[in-house]
Amino acid sequence: MAKLSVNVEGVEFKNPILVGSASPSMDCYGTKKGIDGGAGGVIVKSLFGDKGKLGRNFPRPRFKLYDYRDYPGYPDKLPHAFTLNSLEECSHFGYEEYMEDVNKAKKMIGKDGIVMASLSGVTLEEWETMIKMVNETDADWVELNVSCPFAADMGVKMGAGAVDMCPDITSFCAKLVKKPFSVKISPQASNPVDIALGVERAGGKCVNMSARLSGFDIDIDTMRPIGPGAQGGWGGPYLIGYGLKYVAQAAKRLSIPIIAGLGVWDWRDIIKYTMVGATLVQSGVGIMLQGYNISKKWADSIDAWLDSKGYTSLDEIRGIALPNILKTSEIERAPEGVYASVDYEKCTKCGVCVRSCFYDAIKLTKMGAVINSKKCDGCGMCVEVCPSQAAKMNFPRKRVG
Ligand SMILES: Cc1cc2nc3c(=O)[nH]c(=O)nc-3n(C[C@H](O)[C@H](O)[C@H](O)COP(=O)(O)O)c2cc1C
Ligand code: SF4
Ligand code: SF4
Repeated sequence: MAKLSVNVEGVEFKNPILVGSASPSMDCYGTKKGIDGGAGGVIVKSLFGDKGKLGRNFPRPRFKLYDYRDYPGYPDKLPHAFTLNSLEECSHFGYEEYMEDVNKAKKMIGKDGIVMASLSGVTLEEWETMIKMVNETDADWVELNVSCPFAADMGVKMGAGAVDMCPDITSFCAKLVKKPFSVKISPQASNPVDIALGVERAGGKCVNMSARLSGFDIDIDTMRPIGPGAQGGWGGPYLIGYGLKYVAQAAKRLSIPIIAGLGVWDWRDIIKYTMVGATLVQSGVGIMLQGYNISKKWADSIDAWLDSKGYTSLDEIRGIALPNILKTSEIERAPEGVYASVDYEKCTKCGVCVRSCFYDAIKLTKMGAVINSKKCDGCGMCVEVCPSQAAKMNFPRKRVG
């Protein structure tokens, strides 16, 4: 059995999986279920300062899933790329209730897992009030949440609307917090890595990258946004490429630990984030749609994978992929002799590849799709769209990836 535990700021997590601050960690009962389900820690749903208390009441309904239920085989099979649009800003608790709930959660969980409170102030006074209160609780950790995707739309300078203030908030709060802490940042910045670096320079001990983007869809009949009518969090597994890129870039520039987690959908995603430098990995939508107990399955699968590869701990793979991530200026361009070909045993002559070949290299014949290797650019689109896996790429020499 490989060692899954990780130590961050002196806090021992039994594994790197965190239930992200979201509906599953709404209160102590959800927080307890998160740990019982196998996560190493739970980030409790954020407490907003009183100036943002509008967010303590949610619109109903507030969830909309795109490209989810219509997946073939649903609900036994779930898609790996879909979108969750949701508008649920913060905990419904006020200050006192939140602190009581966190204490209750820790009492219920004890040493079985790490309870992480999450705070989000509008003014420095609010940050100070909340931090002083949370210092007195039994929470193991505090997250300073400067990431809410739509707080600015509520009319308060907070979260993604206060991205420019992240370093100032960090240095102000770092002097007050008496517990290990992380700073959660927004991806809605021109460069979230610069923000993370600012957090580190301001005294941040750990950075959470990150919250989701925000957006909406338009109903063309009613001519209004689908759902409550305003922007909401716009996330889901489709975002993982974005998350991996920024975590990798941050890992190369930061020396503090990183909590990653955008678009985590299965155990492989946790390994991927670890390989680009993350120490802890949170999941929001993954746990919301697969249930609390998915964490245990993820931990078992990660363990089995590490064993199968001969690794004894996650520390051995942390950042291991970083040297393989090239700059676009470094990749091989226009390699010679790369072209597609078709296996006529598999080709159904559906013509799907023909419409997506922009080099006019494919003709449908009685035999099937015939590729003119002189015209073929080697772009690979026919392979990607072929429903029968009849098209394949040919390489003149073995290549990686
Ligand atoms: C319904 C919902 C509510 C959320 N509420 C909070 C919150 O109160 N505080 C917070 O820091 N992040 C919140 N988040 C963001 C998650 O903590 C996490 O950053 C994000 O969901 C990660 O992406 P994933 O859903 O792809 O795993 C929320 C996310 C969702 C889906
Ligand atoms: S690889 Fe690209 S150019 Fe070549 S046949 Fe397929 S789609 Fe056309
Ligand atoms: S998409 Fe695939 S199955 Fe359809 S015509 Fe092209 S090669 Fe044949």
